[in-house]
Amino acid sequence: MDLVICPSSPLLGKRIAELLEAKIAAVQYRKFPDGELYVRVESEEDSHIVVGSLCSSDDIVLLNLLFDALKGRITALIPYMGYARQDREFLKGEAVSIRVIAKMIEERADKIITVNIHSNKAKENFKTLIDVDAMPKIGEHFRGRDIIMISPDKGSADRVKTAANIANCEWDWLEKMRIDAHTVEIVPKNLDVKDKNVLIVDDMISTGGTVVEAAKKLYELGAKRVEVACVHAVLTDFAAIKLFSTGIADITATDTIERIFSKISVAGILAEAI
Ligand code: R5P
Repeated sequence: MDLVICPSSPLLGKRIAELLEAKIAAVQYRKFPDGELYVRVESEEDSHIVVGSLCSSDDIVLLNLLFDALKGRITALIPYMGYARQDREFLKGEAVSIRVIAKMIEERADKIITVNIHSNKAKENFKTLIDVDAMPKIGEHFRGRDIIMISPDKGSADRVKTAANIANCEWDWLEKMRIDAHTVEIVPKNLDVKDKNVLIVDDMISTGGTVVEAAKKLYELGAKRVEVACVHAVLTDFAAIKLFSTGIADITATDTIERIFSKISVAGILAEAI
């Protein structure tokens, strides 16, 4: 067995290889002047673990090219499963993107592992998918810190509860409260955040809109310091700058998407899942 590392996950791939004491396969990746991609794998093994997040359309093409080049059994380890937010036909005529991705991976992979896929609806598109929860790792990272963990919405509250129980801190979620026909207020459901250090925890930060709105509200309510943590730091549209200019003090993420903010590694929990 060897480990095939995709360009989207070089460090996480190496960390997993070290934990599994697996050889890293020699792979050549090339991009032609017209943008087309090329893959060549030098491997004599008949079983492979392919590690690569799907952060861009190129990542999807590369994964397909690897599937074609590799011989034998494949475990597809997709730390960040992109295209999972289009998990249903919101408007008539739309493609269900994650259904296409699931079909593509299942056609070739014998085992599929991911981390905190966007929704249960997205997960339903796979026949079998091992969905590893990184929230306990976030909890471990913040253990001993004087913080309150806050979920930006009720939908993510269970995830935050998992992290908070491990961090041994209080937690809450922000709830939309209708004040009158024209006004909706966002407030923490149970806790008072005045003069408290708050950590907003979410599965993903993409444009940053969700955590920015939450942070503004928490500062308005008197929070002393607000920072954020997420599993997947997608961070589109210069999101990090948007977060910092809102007064968010720090960003912590895992290495499902490799960023400067990836202070927590999911290598251990993924190696266990394999
Ligand atoms: C929502 O379902 C997710 O948990 C995130 O809150 C959301 O995807 C974050 O997106 P954005 O950063 O663009 O607000």
